[in-house]
Amino acid sequence: MDPRLVNIDLPILGLCYGLQLIAQITQGKVKPATCKEYGTTFVSIDKATGILRGLNKREKVWMSHGDTVYAPPPSFEIMAHSKNCPVAAFKHKKKPIYGLQWHPEVIHTKNGAKMLNNFIFEVCKCEANWKMEDIIEKMVKEIRSAVGEEKAIIGLSGGIDSSVATALAAKAIENKLTAVFVDHGFMREGEPEQVRKTFQKFKLNFEVAEAQERFMHKLKKIIDPEKKRKIIGEEFIRVFEEKANIIDASFLIQGTIYPDRIESGFSKNSKKIKSHHNVAGLPSKIKFKKILEPLRDLYKDEVRKVARMLGLPKKLVERQPFPGPGLAVRIIGEVNNEKNRIIKQADKIVREEIEKAKLDNKLWQYFAVLTDTKATGVKGDARAYGYVVAIRAAESREAMTANFAKIPYSILEKIATRITNEIPQVTRIVYDITHKPPATIEWE
Ligand code: XMP
Repeated sequence: MDPRLVNIDLPILGLCYGLQLIAQITQGKVKPATCKEYGTTFVSIDKATGILRGLNKREKVWMSHGDTVYAPPPSFEIMAHSKNCPVAAFKHKKKPIYGLQWHPEVIHTKNGAKMLNNFIFEVCKCEANWKMEDIIEKMVKEIRSAVGEEKAIIGLSGGIDSSVATALAAKAIENKLTAVFVDHGFMREGEPEQVRKTFQKFKLNFEVAEAQERFMHKLKKIIDPEKKRKIIGEEFIRVFEEKANIIDASFLIQGTIYPDRIESGFSKNSKKIKSHHNVAGLPSKIKFKKILEPLRDLYKDEVRKVARMLGLPKKLVERQPFPGPGLAVRIIGEVNNEKNRIIKQADKIVREEIEKAKLDNKLWQYFAVLTDTKATGVKGDARAYGYVVAIRAAESREAMTANFAKIPYSILEKIATRITNEIPQVTRIVYDITHKPPATIEWE
């Protein structure tokens, strides 16, 4: 950060490392923390003004830091502290410069939205004059002017992101758009049929690329999750390119959203966590003139809002997120046809039981993972030796952080009983009780 930034009179809000950076360049004292803070932390609010206006004396916030500001810079004053962090929030004595050690942007900071609201309206004096309709119009115009009289192709997976991108693109360029549904074979049961049904109604060309064997062949002997993602991403693009060549499309439209870009390390300051197949998985030589990503700045909840406004079916809008590489990243280790059948069946059972228990709209995601571990069991009177299936259910708002869901034991019991009864190759079920971070939501 250019140190001169703190000398201009514009409002600045530093979060976490941002607070430390401001402290460092304005002669504050930043050192490795003697007691690091990760996860939920309680802070005492010493000054409930500006960004902290209207907050309680004690606030539940989410921290993740190894360094700490031990003394504020001379021109700053402390606004909040925690047990281990003497400067958990500060403000410049004269200028609208603020820093928070915690993360107001994650759901675990109880009043995080209020803090950001205060910054935008109290400190920056912005007006709330931005509407979702405007952004839809802007995205439609952007697609229309980029594509012009040419043709575009979009990869439609049936997930919310690519579905919204398809609906937007159809609105923008209608029959100049071809939506290609690549059936890589790692979709959930019933999914290909459902996608077809939804998009038949739109004004666009719809094609299915049957590519199951092709993907399975490419993934032979591949164990490393990052390699898997790259291969799937690359193969996707190859299938698209082939289709695009046939229909002579020069643009590729994708449903990449903002968190995909952060976690794929799109900025040099955000570390790569995993390659979302539609971002870092892209091969470097692409035969398209340009890739358009209309949803690139939106979070999932905003994408859902757009979906509702575009009149997409409720079932699709409320569907849980599903990774582009599909069940292939929920089969740990090498994939094969048998494992693919097992994971499809297990996933179906998890979905059915969670939906029957009416837990589906409380959860961000719920699914099964086929681990590459085997365990001994007893089925009937005989010894069995089969797969260990893990159940993952997470609560989240934007997938940047997540909690494992405390599903009632009775539901977990039903799921475990059904999977072990209905799938002979499975002998054991475990429940994943890790938050994100330190885990990610998916296993690979
Ligand atoms: P992780 O596992 O990184 O997942 O905590 C965060 C969210 O992203 C979904 N996910 C993906 N979505 N392409 C996508 O479009 C991908 O390659 C991909 N990988 C993970 C995941 O299901 C979760 O909702």
